[in-house]
Amino acid sequence: MKLQDKLKKRAALKAVDFIKSGMKIGLGTGSTVFYALEEIGKRIKTGELNNIEGIPSSDDTKRLAKKFGIKLTDFSKISRLDINIDGADEVDKKLNLIKGGGGALLREKVVFQCADLNLIIVDESKVSENLGEKWGVPVEVVPFAKDAVTPFIKKFKGSPVLRVDKNMKPAKTDQGNLLYDCKFGIIENPSSLAKKLNTIAGIVEHGIFFPRNCKVIVAENEKIFILE
Ligand code: A5P
Repeated sequence: MKLQDKLKKRAALKAVDFIKSGMKIGLGTGSTVFYALEEIGKRIKTGELNNIEGIPSSDDTKRLAKKFGIKLTDFSKISRLDINIDGADEVDKKLNLIKGGGGALLREKVVFQCADLNLIIVDESKVSENLGEKWGVPVEVVPFAKDAVTPFIKKFKGSPVLRVDKNMKPAKTDQGNLLYDCKFGIIENPSSLAKKLNTIAGIVEHGIFFPRNCKVIVAENEKIFILE
């Protein structure tokens, strides 16, 4: 296993330690969350965890949760989650996040806002002084507005690049929407940028997340630390 994957797994296992039997949990998306899903499944199988129900943040996660034997529920049955475990693409020291590298930002944000505790699991490479140092901001757009929203993003000093899939076709989210990856350079004021993006009709959601009942579990070479 590559070092980065080992770190992802260690952060994921640490997060799973927070889960207790009977909890309702949010299931994030991505390669780090994969290890959490696998571990939750193992602990359910051994009986260490029981009566767990999860709400998946993407179709991929739904499939994995089923594979690992995690019972699923939805927001028609429960409105709060005890814990949500999710990854991130970039984290600053104030716990602002960029998410959506895997395209699941919209459902992830819905799950995030319903959780009493958000555990964000990352390896050390994701931590920055300021958002935007390493990643652009994913922006989910309804297909009708594909060309209508780009002048606004450019006005906000962003460079929108339409995300494509492995066949070089426009990538589609689970909702059938499109994604722009938008570099804004260093984002001095994430809140102001988020507010501007929120005002544009056609933009469904963006990947800037603000800390909310949040702990960020960071796995570094020798140690694990928690930003809160
Ligand atoms: C999914 O859309 C994302 O928000 C992921 O949580 C994020 O991209 C982190 O993914 P990895 O764990 O694969 O790096």
